Amino acid sequence: MLLQEAERRNPGPWAGHSRVAASCAERIADRCPGMDADKAYVLGLLHDIGRRAGVRQLGHVAEGVAYMKALGYDEAARVCLSHSFNTQSVKEYVGKADVTKEEMAAIREGLDSMAYDDYDRLIQLCDAIAGTEGVMDMRARMEDVRRRYGRYPKAKWEANLRLQGYFEEKMGMGLQEALQGLQTQDQAAP
Ligand SMILES: [Fe+2]
Repeated sequence: MLLQEAERRNPGPWAGHSRVAASCAERIADRCPGMDADKAYVLGLLHDIGRRAGVRQLGHVAEGVAYMKALGYDEAARVCLSHSFNTQSVKEYVGKADVTKEEMAAIREGLDSMAYDDYDRLIQLCDAIAGTEGVMDMRARMEDVRRRYGRYPKAKWEANLRLQGYFEEKMGMGLQEALQGLQTQDQAAP
C-alpha cells in the first residue's frame, strides 16, 4: 500500500524496480539460513520509498529515511539509507548530492554510526541486480547506471561483486540458480 501510494504521487520505473528488488530479496533470504524472507521482501519494496516525494537523487535517501522513521519503521529507514552506500561512504554515491546541509549531515551521521547487517547487504545486492521489469545481470545493470549517471565508482562495482559472492556462499548456490524462474530483463529500458 505504501509503495502504491508513492507510485501514484511520483509514477516512474522506480516502482517496478522496487518490486523486482523485493522478489529477489525474498528469494535469496529464503535460501539463507537464519534470514526472514518476508522481512527481506518488505525491505526490498520500501528501499526507494523516498522517491514518493518527487524526482531527487541523493535526496531520495534522505526522504526515505525521514518518511520511514516518521511511520516508526526503523528497519526500513536504515535500508533507505544503507542501500545506496555499499562501501559505507557518502563519496561513492552515484548521482547528484541534491540534499540540504542538514540532510547531508544526517546521512553522514547515519552511515558513521551504522554496522551493516545481512539485510542491509541483501538489499544492496538486490538493488544492483533489479532492473525495472526483471532481474538483470549485475554487470549489465551497473553499466546501465554508469550510462545514466556518467560514472560508477570502482570500489562500488567491486563491492557489488563481493556481495554476490557473500550471498552465494550463504545460499550454497549461484545467484542465477537461486533466482531461476523470476522474470528477467536483458537490457535496461531506454
Ligand atoms: Fe535508492
